[in-house]
Amino acid sequence: MTDFTRTRSLFQLPDGVIYLDGNSLGPLPVAATDRVRGMMSEQWGQQLIRGWNSAGWMAQPRRIGDRVGRLIGAPDGTVVIGDTLSIKVYQALAAALELNSSRRVILSDNGNFPTDLYMADGLLRSLDRGYQLRIVGPEEVEDAIDDTIAVLMLTEVDYRTGRLHDMKALTQKAHAAGALTVWDLAHSAGAIPVDVSGAKADFAVGCTYKYLNGGPGAPAFIYVAPDHADTARPALSGWLGHQAPFAFDLDYRAGAGIERMRVGTPPVIAMAALDAALDVWDGVSMHDIRKASIALADLFIREVEARCPELTLASPRDGNKRGSQVSFRHPNGYAIMQALIARGVIGDFRAPDAIRFGFTPLYIGEAEIRAAVDAIEDVVNNRRWDAAEYRKMAVVT
Ligand SMILES: Cc1ncc(COP(=O)(O)O)c(C=O)c1O
Repeated sequence: MTDFTRTRSLFQLPDGVIYLDGNSLGPLPVAATDRVRGMMSEQWGQQLIRGWNSAGWMAQPRRIGDRVGRLIGAPDGTVVIGDTLSIKVYQALAAALELNSSRRVILSDNGNFPTDLYMADGLLRSLDRGYQLRIVGPEEVEDAIDDTIAVLMLTEVDYRTGRLHDMKALTQKAHAAGALTVWDLAHSAGAIPVDVSGAKADFAVGCTYKYLNGGPGAPAFIYVAPDHADTARPALSGWLGHQAPFAFDLDYRAGAGIERMRVGTPPVIAMAALDAALDVWDGVSMHDIRKASIALADLFIREVEARCPELTLASPRDGNKRGSQVSFRHPNGYAIMQALIARGVIGDFRAPDAIRFGFTPLYIGEAEIRAAVDAIEDVVNNRRWDAAEYRKMAVVT
């Protein structure tokens, strides 16, 4: 049984704040501060460039990749950390297209995160081989899989609504039609049980700054199925993905297996924070997390719907069809969220009208959910949001 009282004590959360935005940026794990400080003063400060060998900096992307791999059902040696998720999407899609080179259609849905679609668009333009990015509604994906599809590229949990795709069933259907799959697990890793091996996903990518609590701008991860690891050609052929980076050859030769998905110098300071954040997961069962997060979200939906009739549920009602977040729609959603944040209830807003709340049992329990709903009821029913200060759009919403 996961001890959620213990996991909560591992996070630094400001007094007076109910944090329902761990689906966007996880809070600070207490241990990360000392880990980063130690890394800077003892490793960088004392070991200087020797740290690449003596402190294991060069091995970090693989070592920490294995730690993330254990949370997504990936065997050791199949996940590597680095860059941002947008970059990892590009790498995965480029490699998948080349492995299925006789086809020209990439299938995705309009619930995908825009950067995934933008990166695909940029890649297809530079390939200039008549590729087509076909975007359908999330519920139309299954029927749209046919034998023209080269790659099915989806985000498992919709960032706006929390709607959850069936990764295993869609991957199976894609494979039966001769397509490969690229799954974005940004809203899945650390939120719900994921089994990339069991689902037979070809490629999977994700970030570590949301449910994995690695910190703002924490590096991303990429998984390549063992079957493709030595044949996938890296489109971003940086020197650290080379077979022998320190041979300084003039010709690129892809490294063995997942090593080839490395690009350039790893962000060592950020990796130290991520490594500390991953310690939180020792002794945590993802099934306990899932059970608790569905219970918290169900309670939240029940209470909000009973007390705030102006808000319309934008997420699936069935917890098994949702990730770990719940959104409600309201024409004044932005101002409502600003008024909530001013009261210490932190969620976020996604255009055009969704207020979004993440449920993270590692540090959120029933008491916080009840207090958050009290605040939402007051803000919405008494129009506390109706003030100029709450309408002013910030750069990040
Ligand atoms: C599904 C998904 N993909 C990609 C991204 C962004 O990737 P990056 O880390 O490159 O900013 C996000 C950001 O929230 C996301 O939710």
